[in-house]
Parts: sequence; C-alpha cells; structure tokens
Amino acid sequence: MANRPASIDASVFTIADLKEQGNKKLPRYAQEYFNEGAMDLITLRDNEEAFNRYKIRPRVLVNVDKADTSAEIFGTTACGTDCGKVPFPMGLSPTAYHKLAHPEGEAATSRAAASTGIPMGLSMYATTSLEEVAAQSNGNPLVMHMGLMRNRQLNVQLLQRAEKAGFKAIFVSVDCPVLGLRLNEHRNCFQLPEGLDHENLPLIGTDLEARCHESDYDPTADWNTAIPWLRSQTKLPLWLKGVGTADDVILAIRHGLDGVVVSNHGGRQLDGVPASLDSLRECAAVAKGKIPIAFDGGIRRGSDIFKAIALGADFCFVGRIPIWGLAYNGQQGVELGIKILMNEFKNIMALAGCRSVKEINKGHLSLLASNGVLSKL
Ligand code: LAC
Repeated sequence: MANRPASIDASVFTIADLKEQGNKKLPRYAQEYFNEGAMDLITLRDNEEAFNRYKIRPRVLVNVDKADTSAEIFGTTACGTDCGKVPFPMGLSPTAYHKLAHPEGEAATSRAAASTGIPMGLSMYATTSLEEVAAQSNGNPLVMHMGLMRNRQLNVQLLQRAEKAGFKAIFVSVDCPVLGLRLNEHRNCFQLPEGLDHENLPLIGTDLEARCHESDYDPTADWNTAIPWLRSQTKLPLWLKGVGTADDVILAIRHGLDGVVVSNHGGRQLDGVPASLDSLRECAAVAKGKIPIAFDGGIRRGSDIFKAIALGADFCFVGRIPIWGLAYNGQQGVELGIKILMNEFKNIMALAGCRSVKEINKGHLSLLASNGVLSKL
C-alpha cells in the first residue's frame, strides 16, 4: 500500500539523508570544498531557502493516472530508452573533482546517468578524461563544460576532443571572469591529492595557486569577442551557464546562443546575488519562446524541480547531489539520488494535478510574503 520511495536503501530516503551519509565518508577538506561556496555563503543558503517561499497550488480531480514526467533537452534521445526523451526534466550539472568523492569518479557518475537516462555535464576540472566518461555513457547525452581561458588553446583542444567523443552540447561558464573567493579553499590550502589530476586540462597545475593563476580564466572575454570566437571553433550547441539577469538573457538571444543556464554556480562565485530561483523569474519572463532556459541552484527535492519548472525553467540540473551520492556509494549512490528525485517529482506532479511537464505553470504556485500573505503569481 505504501508509496515507497524508490531508494530501497535502509538509511537514505531523501536527498537530506544522502547529503548526511555522503558527507560522513568525506575528509573534512573535501566536504568543505564540495559543500561550501564563496565568502559568507549567503547566496548558497538562499538558493535552498528560496524554494520554501513558494507554495504549491494543487488542482484536484484531474486524471493523473498516466501522468507523463518526460522532457526534452538538446533535441536528443536518452540512452537505452529509445523513447526520444529524458525521463524527467533533470540532468547533472558539471562539478569538479569527482575522484575526490569516490575513486571511480566521473566514470561512475557517467554510468549512473546512463542507467537512469539523464544528461550529464562534465566539468573541465574533471579528474577523468572526457573520452573515458564518454566510453562509460552508452550513448547517453553528455555536455562539456568550460570556462573561457586566457590560453585559448585549452578551449580549442577541449572543444575538439568533446566533438570527437560525441558530446551533445557545450556549457560555457560565463560567471567566472575570475574565481570567486572560496574561503574554505584558502583555510584548508586546498589542492588535489597525489594521484589525481586535471585529466582534460594538461597544462593546469593541481594546486589552488595554479588554478587561480592569471593564465587561468580570461577576464578580457566579452560578448563581442568571445561568443563569435566560440562559434567559429565548434558546431556544437553553445549554452551560457551562469546567467542571472533578464538583461543578459536578452543579449544571449541577440548573440544567437542555443540556451542559457540560470545559475549562480551553487553560490561559489559572487556571494550576495539573489537565489537562483529568484533570478529565474526575471530571466524566464524574457526567454519564453525565444531561447531554452535551464536552471540550477539549491534543488534538494522533486517539489523544487516542480517549482522551478512552474517559474519558467525548461529543464533543471543538480550539482552537489551526485557528489553526495558518489561519496555515499559510488555509481549506486548517484543512481539513488537520481531515483529519489525522479520518484518525488512524479508524486508531486500527480498530487498537484499535472498530466505532463508542459502543464506545469505559474498558476500552480503562490508566493508567501514576509507578512504571511499568500499571493498568486
Ligand atoms: C568550482 C569551479 C572549479 O566551482 O568551477 O569549484
């Protein structure tokens, strides 16, 4: 009778459980590297809290017996399913250093994404080569992430390798003219342990100093030079990741980008920007029908994905959840996190009276003001 969580795990029923159990397995410096962000962590916390300001407005007596949770992104098919769609509107955001969380690193994440049929972003700071990640993906959609580097040869070789390995799109982090001030990394003198390396950036060192070095990110990059240059270097769809204002969405449309990811880098770049969910509202208002809009930042529940879709996201990504899954139990831990969210999202859709992802709209939400008054959007 019970609608059991998909987890089938004695101690992990929610993403909060996965976080707790995963973190227990990590050394303190790695825990802090993954969990913390820039400066006072205000944006990092607000990313999660923002979801609680929105309340779901369920519609009753809708036939949700065959509710369809599937979604599309990158116009591609999900691995192994032949259904042409992703099972629900969620993928894995690119995050650095998966081998810090588990020895099988990004290869295990790729297998988990493939077995559940959801797209995976691979960070340019991955500790596994992109070719190996592709080999483990069984054709599942992969997205290559990169910042714009002073040494553009780094970008060129990444683009060429990603194209050759069959990646479906590029996420360009545009919120990194310089690295944010992550105080934990300074406190802990963060560096990759011996044996781990930047497998896709042969020219970059393993310590913080090398990562922050002037030759790293390109602070001169701007719309008129960087975007045409990227276009001239690849045929893959280009998505800008780290957009937070309607003004920049308008520029992304004007410059012919293929998509934007509304994101504040998990609160790891500029502390003090709004919660990603709050930025989504202004971005979605100008993006609708003109450019696909993806979202990441603070998702911890299926209901959070529902809320982001209702506020105008076409697709959601999660970054820290696969890290906690990897730390907890490698590939199976990542699968567990994905299945928990998939099950919760399906449940929320039915309870809210939605038969398809396209039916989810802002009529399904209200906003709780600080004076306790609920208002429709
Ligand atoms: C980070 C960089 C590597 O967020 O993107 O840690």
